[in-house]
Amino acid sequence: MEDDAQGDPMGPVATRVLTVTADGEPRAAIAEAAALLRAGQLVAFPTETVYGLGADATNAAAVAGIFRAKERPYSDPLIVHLADVGQLAEVAKQVPNVARTLAERFWPGPLTLVLPRAPRIPSIVTAGGETVGARVPSHPVARELIRRAGVPVAAPSANRFMRTSPTTAAHVLADLEGRVACVLDAGPTSVGVESTVLDVTASPPRVLRPGGVTLEQLRAVVPEVEGPREAGGPVARAPGQMARHYAPNTPLMVFDGQGEAAITAIRRAAEEALARGERAGALLPDEEAGALSDLPVRVIRLGPSAQLDEVSRRLYAALREADTAGLTRLLAHTFGTEGLGLALADRLRRAAGGRLTPV
Ligand code: TXA
Ligand code: MG
Repeated sequence: MEDDAQGDPMGPVATRVLTVTADGEPRAAIAEAAALLRAGQLVAFPTETVYGLGADATNAAAVAGIFRAKERPYSDPLIVHLADVGQLAEVAKQVPNVARTLAERFWPGPLTLVLPRAPRIPSIVTAGGETVGARVPSHPVARELIRRAGVPVAAPSANRFMRTSPTTAAHVLADLEGRVACVLDAGPTSVGVESTVLDVTASPPRVLRPGGVTLEQLRAVVPEVEGPREAGGPVARAPGQMARHYAPNTPLMVFDGQGEAAITAIRRAAEEALARGERAGALLPDEEAGALSDLPVRVIRLGPSAQLDEVSRRLYAALREADTAGLTRLLAHTFGTEGLGLALADRLRRAAGGRLTPV
């Protein structure tokens, strides 16, 4: 096979990078990207969580291009991005009251609501299912792009399937250069982990994927919201929820704990790896960054553990840095299950091939 490994008769495309400010200047660049979307092309764009790979959600052929570019299986449904809550009627057949309440409180922002699908959304978007995931992102570039495109925009994270989600345009290009028409580069994203996916067709509503809006925040508005089911539970309703996902190339071991116990476990594992002749690295919060300084271990800092928003913002870039550094063993630990700790534990577990190691 040649360059068009996805069997795309068009072959590789020249990817244009359009640089814009975080608040979306110059507008002409966004207008150009919006025109590409309307013409059925793929555009990667920043959201507040991670970069998305967008296509006109009402154009099945355009959406098929997303699956080809990512090498993503058609069984994994896409999130549809809206410019505002008013557009919801275009994508959802009906909107339960609880969804209205949550949208009012958390949109624009990192919350995806799973709702009954409207006929206008082709079934390729929803993996053949009768529900659709929708959200209004808060990033000004994303909102302006969707508004100008004039259509709902289907967009998964702009990485190749099974790889770490991109938080910069450089990450997008590393995975998708030559496969997308355009990347809007507005610098690093601010949340860093993907949106929370909440199924509001279930009663009570259930978190399918923890993310940027925390369980505590959801329960402050709707107390009965159910947390995510443990991995390995019954059939995943969110196919993105497979055990290995969001993965770096470097084998990662994640200890489920914090403080002395976790750092001791990491030190022991690092010493064992070094004894085997491996190149070891560790993802550590700032205050623990010096704890392995007597060992030849590459330490990648995640920010202060008291600021999980900073740890979330940095996690995916840190995983990519470990790959670039050519490490053969990467070690990390979790950050509890409160607030963003829940999403971090979920992503770290998937990055570690589906399991956390008890300390
Ligand atoms: O923050 C985000 O959500 C980013 C940005 C680009 O918006 N998008 C993102 O998309 O993470 P993706 O495709 O990488 O992950 C979306 C996941 C799917 O894998 C699936 O688990 C879930 O959302 N999902 C989407 N539609 C669904 C549906 N109808 N029912 C259940 N789960 C759904
Ligand atoms: Mg993804």
